[in-house]
Amino acid sequence: MPRGNAVVTGYGFYAPSRVVTNHDLEKMVDTSDEWITSRTGIKERRFAAQGENTSTMATRAAKIALERARLRPQDVDLIIVGTCSPDYLFPATACLVQDALGAEHAGAFDVEAACTSFVSAIAVANGMILAGSARNAVVIGAECLSRLLDFKDRNTCVLFGDGAGAVVLEASNASVGVESAVLHADGSKGELLYVKAGGSRVPATNETVAQGQHFIRMQGGEVFKLAVKSMADAAEEALAEAGVGLDEIDLMVPHQANVRIIDAVAKRLHFPMEKVIVNIQRYGNTSAASIPIALAEAAETGKLKKGDRVLLVAFGGGFTWGAAVMEWWGVPIPDRREKTIVERAARTVDDLLDRVRLPSP
Ligand code: ACO
Repeated sequence: MPRGNAVVTGYGFYAPSRVVTNHDLEKMVDTSDEWITSRTGIKERRFAAQGENTSTMATRAAKIALERARLRPQDVDLIIVGTCSPDYLFPATACLVQDALGAEHAGAFDVEAACTSFVSAIAVANGMILAGSARNAVVIGAECLSRLLDFKDRNTCVLFGDGAGAVVLEASNASVGVESAVLHADGSKGELLYVKAGGSRVPATNETVAQGQHFIRMQGGEVFKLAVKSMADAAEEALAEAGVGLDEIDLMVPHQANVRIIDAVAKRLHFPMEKVIVNIQRYGNTSAASIPIALAEAAETGKLKKGDRVLLVAFGGGFTWGAAVMEWWGVPIPDRREKTIVERAARTVDDLLDRVRLPSP
């Protein structure tokens, strides 16, 4: 049975403490702070420490989001992790997060749509909440891309960073919540941005390792051209589906791949840059984590407030792209605990009645 709208009731992010600046990378590859800054907007990024990986970062972000939502791990119905750098091929990173959180009643799975993973995970969680198959979901975007970088390939190693962001999405009649989510893909362009080996098509061998086929490879120029048009088109589609005008959007939170892409998307949409969140200079491209990190940081710093209408827009490997419109809530649902207690009591009464009910003649 449908249960109202899906609203964000908690948010959090985690960025590893190790800062790697462009000057640090100058010592590793033939690059310069000037090239990286002018071509991408990136000044520094975070790399996970030894012992940290995608699931540990995802868990830290999720814990903060759950605390803010005042939701206990044992009351979580669903955990979805968007990532293209999972701990393992399987089990899903979401299962590792489920265990680490102690979310004993939750279902858990990963969504893999590269940089569009978080928007895709929001679309899935929203659909499940609207359908009534989950009361709540912890939706996480998390990446440990530093482990997939070839530090001899200057085309890619200067771009990416590690981190995680999470939101708690819950059924509520109190707010508008997620108003639309649109997703698209073009698998024919998959090899323009991919990790070639390690899956079932090109299994790991000594050769694949020697040839660096387990690292991210990208034809950046091609990606750039398609990213701008696709992100702008998806934004317009999500707005139309929500029945919302661009002038009603308080904040745009785009995937942080390149500040020039973000600028170009805003220009194409005629949307003011003052209302666009940009933090790529501090975190680099954290793929699936970039939007939830930016959302959580914007909420923490007061740039994103309860009642604001937000536009999320992403583009990534696959190719995949998508956008979502939501009204930001960002605070716990006030009467949830009481409701849960009443629901449980009603179930107990039902069970007791079932036991004493006589079979019909
Ligand atoms: N330092 C110095 N020079 C470099 C570096 C570097 N780090 N990297 C590349 N160059 C050189 C190239 O070799 C090339 O030199 P050449 O002309 O002698 O061959 C020159 O710089 C220009 O390279 P371009 O690729 O034309 O540079 P461009 O302006 O396109 O910027 C970039 C490259 C930043 C990668 C850009 O194309 C981009 O941002 N692309 C999109 C990335 C993206 O959106 N990815 C999607 C999400 S990621 C995901 O899904 C996992």
